[in-house]
Amino acid sequence: MRLRNKVAIISGAAGGMGANMVKRFIEEGAKVAAADLHADTLKKDASFDEEKCLIVQADMTQEQQVEKLVQQAINRFGKVDILVNAAGIAQSATPIEKVSNEAWDRIMDINIKAHFLTSREVVPIMKEQKAGVIINVASISAVRPRPGLNAYVASKGAVLAFTQALAIELAENNIRVNAINPGPADTGMLGQFAAKGVDVEEAKETTFKDSVPLGRLIQPEDIANAAVYLSSDEARMVTGAIFNIDGGRGI
Ligand SMILES: NC(=O)c1ccc[n+]([C@@H]2O[C@H](COP(=O)([O-])OP(=O)(O)OC[C@H]3O[C@@H](n4cnc5c(N)ncnc54)[C@H](O)[C@@H]3O)[C@@H](O)[C@H]2O)c1
Repeated sequence: MRLRNKVAIISGAAGGMGANMVKRFIEEGAKVAAADLHADTLKKDASFDEEKCLIVQADMTQEQQVEKLVQQAINRFGKVDILVNAAGIAQSATPIEKVSNEAWDRIMDINIKAHFLTSREVVPIMKEQKAGVIINVASISAVRPRPGLNAYVASKGAVLAFTQALAIELAENNIRVNAINPGPADTGMLGQFAAKGVDVEEAKETTFKDSVPLGRLIQPEDIANAAVYLSSDEARMVTGAIFNIDGGRGI
């Protein structure tokens, strides 16, 4: 019970990593506001105890929906100790000259602007509480890019810089801010990185798996376990850290 009595907001909660985080956080004693654009999927698939889990349909790029989400979490659970920004979208490998303004803006909106919106909303609460933890899910591609993922990699690089900017800004408030860089992970997103026309299952087994020195894809629980640790008091002196949970892909 490493998160006993803690309250967490997890975005991207219907996704591969997010859903596993919701499960692990509840197992560790936390109460969770689980937010996703596709919250209906989470409602259908998950058997979370309603006492411990509030499922919220929210688009994290929309300021008012983010405000409402945080308010709902406060109304239900009375505080916010932890924010995990796990919502994100992939980019199908695309040469830079073929990337549209709309595609670029969409990736930036979801992968980095949403983190700004959620952080801006929870930080006053955490300052008042004199404690808090923010975890941003970035990507190992931010430090070891693949060709064609130009906008995605740029967005995740921004997540790492934003994480460290907030870590230094909020240290005096006892708010810790850390990032996780997953390597190729076995979720619905992975195949979306393949270029158009590429066999997704084959790409998972070859390109992605072969790029991991430990020889396996990362599983959602590997990321959830790192998030549990970073959220727990065991990590009380960890801030501004970037955790590569990538089977060595970043080496
Ligand atoms: N899967 C990988 O190989 C991999 C590798 C490195 C980093 N990541 C990152 O890990 C995080 C989680 O990814 P995943 O693999 O679980 O992918 P996923 O596609 O399974 O989950 C992402 C979730 O984010 C939600 N989402 C997207 N836009 C949203 C919005 N505007 N508002 C609210 N929710 C929104 C989606 O509905 C989805 O449920 C992402 O930030 C992703 O970029 C993934």
